[in-house]
Order: sequence, then C-alpha cells, then structure tokens
Amino acid sequence: MAAREIADRVYSVGTIDWDLRYFDALMPTAWGSSYNAYLIKGSEKTALIDTCKPSDETDFITNLMRLEQHSLDYIVINHAEQDHSGLVPLLLEVYPGVKIVTNETCAGLLSVMHHFEEAENRFIIIGDRETLSLGDKTLKFYPSPWVHWPDTMFTEVVEDKVLFTTDFLGTHYAASALFQDDESSAYLEAAKRYYAAIMMPFRSSVQDHLKLIDEIAPKFICPGHGPVLSMPAKIIDLYRRWSSDKPQNLVVVAYVSMHGSTKFMTNFLVDDLVQRGIPVQQYNLLETDTGILGSAVVDAATIILATPTVIFGPHPVAVNTAYLIRTIRPKAKHLGVIGSYGWGTNAVDYLGEMLSPLGAEMLEPVYIKGLPEENAISALRAMADAIEERHKTL
Ligand code: FEO
Repeated sequence: MAAREIADRVYSVGTIDWDLRYFDALMPTAWGSSYNAYLIKGSEKTALIDTCKPSDETDFITNLMRLEQHSLDYIVINHAEQDHSGLVPLLLEVYPGVKIVTNETCAGLLSVMHHFEEAENRFIIIGDRETLSLGDKTLKFYPSPWVHWPDTMFTEVVEDKVLFTTDFLGTHYAASALFQDDESSAYLEAAKRYYAAIMMPFRSSVQDHLKLIDEIAPKFICPGHGPVLSMPAKIIDLYRRWSSDKPQNLVVVAYVSMHGSTKFMTNFLVDDLVQRGIPVQQYNLLETDTGILGSAVVDAATIILATPTVIFGPHPVAVNTAYLIRTIRPKAKHLGVIGSYGWGTNAVDYLGEMLSPLGAEMLEPVYIKGLPEENAISALRAMADAIEERHKTL
C-alpha cells in the first residue's frame, strides 16, 4: 500500500495483505487485512507510529524511502504484538539513533519478544497524558490497557486531532481507500467479526475507552488494521451497542448432528421460536467458521448448543464452540444444551461446566436417549416457553 497523507505531514505508511485468510492462525479474515503504521513529520523531529509484520519489510521500507525518510527520531509503539512491532529490530539498525517511545508495560513486552540488545538505552518511557514535542506538532500519550492487551496505548497528534488507537476500532478489511467512506455490509460485518474476536472479551474496558475517545474528540481515528476512520461516529455507535450489557432479542442455535436426531431437535426448536416471533439464527457447526459464529453471538440474548454424544461426551466440534464462546465472552443472559445420546452421556454437564464462567443462566437442558419422539417435542416446547418468557423482559 503506497504512502499517503492523512493530514498535514501525517502519513499512512503501513502495508496491506489482500490474501490474508486467517489472522493469528485463529480468526478467519475473509476480506484480508492491513498492517497500519503512520509517520508524523514535525518541524524539528519525525516520529513513526507502530510498524508492521516482519514479512512486509520490503513494502514498509519502500514507503519510508518514498517519503525520503533517511533519518528518524522516534518510533512510538502503541502495542507490542508482533503485527505492530515486528519491524522494530530492523528499524533500530536502519536508524541507529532512533528511540522507542512507549509505556512501561509495552517496553517490558517488547524486550521479551525481540530480545533487543542494550534495550534500556533505546527506550523513552512515557506516562498517562505525557507529551512529546516534534516542533510544531505534539504527541500526547494515553496508555489504554486491555483493548486488548495490558500494554495497549493511544497516541494523539494534538494539533491535527488525529488519534492512533492500535487494535482498538480496527478491522481486518483490506481496502484501496485510505479513509473509511465504505459503509458496505462487508465492511460492517468485518468490523463486527473483529470486535467479537479481539475486543468482546474486554467489554468493560471497551466502554471505558469509548468514553476516553469522546473526551479526546478526534477528527481522524487511525487504527492498526483497516481503513482510517474519517467519520468515526457510526463505528463508535456500533461499539457502544455491541459492548453494552443489554443483549438483543435474538437466539443463536449452533448445532452438529451425526445421525439426524440432534438436527431434528434443532429444527423443531428453531421453528417453534420463529412461530413465536423470536428472531433466530441457526448455524451448522461443520459449515460455519468461527468468524461468522463470533459475530452472531455479539448481540444474542440466548445461545443454544446442540450436540450428539460421542463416546461419553459432547461432539468435539461442540466442545470447540463452547471453548470459543467461553473465550470471547458474549453478553448472552441465557444458555442451553440440547441433543441426544445412545447408551450414556455427560455432554450436558461437560458443556455446562465449560460455559459456567460466563455467568449466564443455564436453561433446563433437553437431552434425549435414543430417537427423539413426543417426549423431546414437549421438552423443546418447554425450552421455547422459557426463552419467550425471558426475552419479554429484555
Ligand atoms: Fe493487531 Fe493485538 O495486534
């Protein structure tokens, strides 16, 4: 991605990966991503905000050379994860006098991850709301822990009202446009999947940092991934809704089935809920990637896992899903397990234990021995009754 100017002598110098389909070998990235970094040329000093992943070294250095950046005073690192700090060791060689500006937590993580030689001599450690002059431009620092690591930090160019937020408000969305003037359903879905996987486990910290952004009132928000936000109000409003404690009137039913019994139960429950006018999303776990499922559970008030029994326990795909849900911590108020078994099972207890850290109410499970018949249907109707009753009070 070519170097481009965002505001007066504030440049985007990061890289783009159109082909990326998994981030951290974990999160599907259907639309690729970008690794954003920014260069600020003050009248006296020049600072780089973040770097990119090591494999993009050539593109990154090319961008700096196109801006004739033959010297550099500061590298501000807002977050130590390698997709943002990966080129720091190289830049310390390219620019022998450059200093790394960051908070104490981030400096510790950088030292561990990169094993810098003489690291202590290269760091300038800043505190909350400290400033650093570049001449006619001033950098202001806001250590912002837990969006999404303990080291994360925002940096502002005060005179230009430009705020660099590293992963916060980012998106895994490769785009040729520098600014987010794209409000396509694809962009918004990418933003939601990113929020679900990276920020949702830290919802209360997200809310705190939305307040900080209100206070700073930046004109441009420059995240570490995806387009620059020149009209940030919409995505901030979405983050407010996603991170709030109030779920939507939505049931997500995620199922896996071996011989058809669990699918029959899933279909029956979903159909019953639809007839009651309750919005439902149904996902076959063998066909659904974790990005889609993560996005689906952001707003849901109720999540139902449907699984048969394999040997004594739940199907491994259901275990994987329960672990994902426990990790990304959606705000669902009610959880349920349905399914079937042949000769013995601990599936309900196993999944209930896995999901207990969420603190949500466990609905009465519907777990049937053998082929589901009238007993299953009446129990599933009772589960639908319970969901309808609880969703009335959302
Ligand atoms: Fe984009 Fe936490 O790294």
